[in-house]
Amino acid sequence: MSFSSIFRCLLCNIPKNESRGEKVPVSTEQYEIEGKNPGDSTDFQESIDSTSQFTSPDESNITTEENIAELPIQKSNRALIVAAKGAYSFADLPFPILSHEHEVVISNRATGLNPIDYKSVDYNFCLPEFPWITGREMAGVVEMVGAGVRDVKVGDHVWTSTYYRDRRAGCFQQYITVPAHTVLPLPPSTNFTSAASLGVAGLTAAMTLWHWLDVPFPPPSANPPPPANPEKQEQEQEQEFLLVWGGGTVTGQYALQLAAISHLRVIAITSSHTAPLARSLGAIVIERDNKSNTQIISEIKEIAGDNITRAIDLVGPKTASACLQVLSRERECRFAPLAMMGNEEVVARNVQVVTVEMKRFVLDEANRMYALELNRLVGEGRVQVPGIETVHGGLENVVLGLDRLKKGEMGGRKMVVVF
Ligand SMILES: NC(=O)c1ccc[n+]([C@@H]2O[C@H](COP(=O)([O-])OP(=O)(O)OC[C@H]3O[C@@H](n4cnc5c(N)ncnc54)[C@H](OP(=O)(O)O)[C@@H]3O)[C@@H](O)[C@H]2O)c1
Repeated sequence: MSFSSIFRCLLCNIPKNESRGEKVPVSTEQYEIEGKNPGDSTDFQESIDSTSQFTSPDESNITTEENIAELPIQKSNRALIVAAKGAYSFADLPFPILSHEHEVVISNRATGLNPIDYKSVDYNFCLPEFPWITGREMAGVVEMVGAGVRDVKVGDHVWTSTYYRDRRAGCFQQYITVPAHTVLPLPPSTNFTSAASLGVAGLTAAMTLWHWLDVPFPPPSANPPPPANPEKQEQEQEQEFLLVWGGGTVTGQYALQLAAISHLRVIAITSSHTAPLARSLGAIVIERDNKSNTQIISEIKEIAGDNITRAIDLVGPKTASACLQVLSRERECRFAPLAMMGNEEVVARNVQVVTVEMKRFVLDEANRMYALELNRLVGEGRVQVPGIETVHGGLENVVLGLDRLKKGEMGGRKMVVVF
């Protein structure tokens, strides 16, 4: 039996009002913004189109009819699927099957929403085929472990960061199946909701700094930097800077904190709205409101001279271009354009543009060390999780959360859907 025909059978088993081709009403009452007015009510009356146009099925990693009969646990796995270009639907899939003994199944309690989640559906990329399941970070309770898993056990409270190429790892489903080395315990003082922001923003900031931009791990304790010595003032001025364009983004907030505890001097570009937050996280802030990029560039140079040796852009091609213009002309520099850079940019010889590929966390077990270090710093209270906006109602309200995120009104807060 093909995957597509199994999928059709599964759809037949779901409640009638969620069957193919019908509109699925979305509950509006369960959408709350912590500490905020829910805002424009027209958002809350949207429906999600359901469709049966599944094409090009890939049977790898998918439970087969034979496997269904062998399942030790007869639970179904509710999923929000991208059924076709730009079209979501719901399905009840079989409980996952492990494909090797080092995998873990996690029951979803909270999943973080990210710009990539809606961009990939709107512009049809990072979707190997239809139907697909998106969502890249979550926190929950371990439901099942493979025979070779040592450090994780059933019942553990954990978070993970996933790679979009495995449909079983898409976080917009009830049960997520991932390699054990990508599963981390919740740091003390976090809960499922706050830990659901670690897998993308937190880990991207950590790996961008420590892996791609060659920033050393922070010192083991929270000791302050040595007091400034006036005789070393000249030397101080020569000290290198990190520029974070988009310091008010969730990823930027993690980057500012991680850089500060490594005693880097950081310049952040933010709006006046997120400026106090970025300052509180240790950055020198340039507010961007009503300024051209040319103005901002000259303000950056006034502060840092020719001493910016590392930069992260979290906004887009124009600001990526601006970052390239302020990097040191003399020293070796590294630049991470996390939100795209134009192909035609001229890059100076002393500048290395790094490609941040978060799939390296999943594909290379050695990179677990970055997640462990991030966990340690969050657990010790040296890195704070960003403010969270919570969407209740689990999978049914993921699309509403993504619509809200798309409007760009987050003001430095992270959107998390709780189950
Ligand atoms: N390559 C990767 O693996 C990877 C991983 C994570 C994120 N990213 C990318 O990084 C970007 C940020 O992601 P995120 O989840 O951290 O974003 P986010 O928190 O959702 O970003 C929203 C924030 O962007 C800021 N912003 C908007 N326009 C700006 C501008 N012109 N200049 C400076 N700041 C601006 C706003 O803060 P203000 O109030 O300060 O304007 C707003 O709070 C996205 O493009 C995302 O796709 C890539």
